[in-house]
Amino acid sequence: MNLNSLHGAGGARWRRGLTAAAAALLGSGVVVVAATQANAAAGCRVDYSVNQWSNGFTANVNITNLGDPISGGWTLEWDFAGNQAVTQSWSSTYTQSGRHVTLKNASWNGSLATNASTGVGFQATYSGTNTAPTSFRLNGTTCNGGTTPTNPPTNPPTNPPTNPPTNPPTNPPTNPPTNPPSGTRVDNPYVGVRGYVNPEWKAKAESEPGGNRVSNNPTAVWLDRIAAIEGTPDSESNGPMGLRDHLDAALAQGAGYAQFVIYNLPGRDCSALASNGELGVDELPRYKSQYIDPIAAIMGDQKYRNLRIIAIIEIDSLPNLVTNTNIAKCATMKSNGGYVDGVGYALAKLGAIPNVYNYIDAAHHGWIGWDTNFGPSADMMATAARASGSTLNNVHGFITNTANYSALVEPYVKITDNVNGTSVRQSKWIDWNFYVDELSFAQAFRQRLIQAGFSSSVGMLIDTSRNGWGGSARPTGPGATTNVDTYVNGGRIDRRIHPGNWCNQSGAGLGERPKAAPASGIDAYVWVKPPGESDGSSREIPNNDGKGFDRMCDPTYTGNERNGNNMTGALANAPISGAWFSAQFRELMANAYPPL
Ligand code: BGC
Repeated sequence: MNLNSLHGAGGARWRRGLTAAAAALLGSGVVVVAATQANAAAGCRVDYSVNQWSNGFTANVNITNLGDPISGGWTLEWDFAGNQAVTQSWSSTYTQSGRHVTLKNASWNGSLATNASTGVGFQATYSGTNTAPTSFRLNGTTCNGGTTPTNPPTNPPTNPPTNPPTNPPTNPPTNPPTNPPSGTRVDNPYVGVRGYVNPEWKAKAESEPGGNRVSNNPTAVWLDRIAAIEGTPDSESNGPMGLRDHLDAALAQGAGYAQFVIYNLPGRDCSALASNGELGVDELPRYKSQYIDPIAAIMGDQKYRNLRIIAIIEIDSLPNLVTNTNIAKCATMKSNGGYVDGVGYALAKLGAIPNVYNYIDAAHHGWIGWDTNFGPSADMMATAARASGSTLNNVHGFITNTANYSALVEPYVKITDNVNGTSVRQSKWIDWNFYVDELSFAQAFRQRLIQAGFSSSVGMLIDTSRNGWGGSARPTGPGATTNVDTYVNGGRIDRRIHPGNWCNQSGAGLGERPKAAPASGIDAYVWVKPPGESDGSSREIPNNDGKGFDRMCDPTYTGNERNGNNMTGALANAPISGAWFSAQFRELMANAYPPL
């Protein structure tokens, strides 16, 4: 399914016009209860916003360094006015002594250039009133000014932390609120509640040695054909549980949210073969009446009104209309309107249900990270969100990297790096892309989507199920500065042969465990592709699931124009897409990062 880019280095370059501070404010979004503290200071600025319930809250803390560049790590401190007690933090580690809280950077966000921002956060308990802190200090300097200081801070850090934390907390909140308000959508549906653990995936994970270390993570349920609505006992790639069974099981688990992938457009997967769907290119009417309408009827059942239902809308579809119309089936889907009208219809129907949260698939940086694809993809998403009677308000957010392998953060290669005066954008791996990893791409694409007309409160999801890239092959520092290629290839943690490779990638590992509000503008890291489920068979395998054979899943294939005619890097002996691939699951666990 996920393929990549046709792109060019030329053309007008669209530039993001927002300042870091403006982006941070947009990033705080609409919250149930918001306390925004904008303390601009000689040295730093902190934007603090909370999402709270009766006895707890999560806080997004966006830190902007207005002073000299920070390279050795940072420490943020404040005092609470009440009895707030931090129970976990993300993108940072915390200590608390009485009312005094100290937050330190994570391994990957300890450097902050002048005017650079980083989004971190925490969860805490409280009783009584949850008053926001009034003063913050960054590396000893009080944050209280809005302009860049003319003098360097008087208290530069003398002891930067020598061991920045490497393992952010992996556990979901243990005391989620039990009754999220019904009828009104919250800003971030992932915050403060536990995710639904699909028992069918859990059983498969636990059939593998050591699988119980990860089997309690929420993964998405793929409604990949009409029959999946009722359950598919005879299918290799799905289980007997239907949509209602999953929703009932979610209620029984006391889950606060459950994730479903809406994935059955007419002419599905137009540029690849492994996940071609059951509906022909002209079967939009069937998509509406036999697929979306029954799903909406079930999701709209009042019984589920207190469950936040996440609907991930149609992986890979709209970007294919931007970059791959040289392929006949994609050209057909563009000219007959099947994708745009189908997505619009799904958004309108599901968006009419107050507790459904629609997230449109937005490919990944290695597909639409070039300006020639970036803006047009955002505009295509806005077009689809206005089709079939839908409005942009039906879109709660977007997801990137679904079922793909792009690294969340490249710790040793930044897109702004250059080697002996040559930009890393000229390396073979980056190939003039404007992004080198998913977090930077998702945050930037969010701003472009807002420019395309979407609400400034849209949130991004990133599928981190298989982008960990740990294990012994993981670089531990930058590559040699001989030239841009040695530098990028030696330092990149994404070990694929080419960023356009998408099928059962050798060497990949489980990525960040699912986590709410991990960074500014990001609603959650999620596991949408259930790890261990194949992307496609490595050779032709006759099957009753209608699954084709895409040579991008064949380890002996020498590639096509979309992966620069490189080897595929796919694992051998893979079953059809969606079927359990034991060897891959074991490798994903072995190469997990953070490690298990
Ligand atoms: C397959 C689906 C499967 C999904 C999740 C897709 O590539 O086509 O059948 O449910 O992956 O594994």
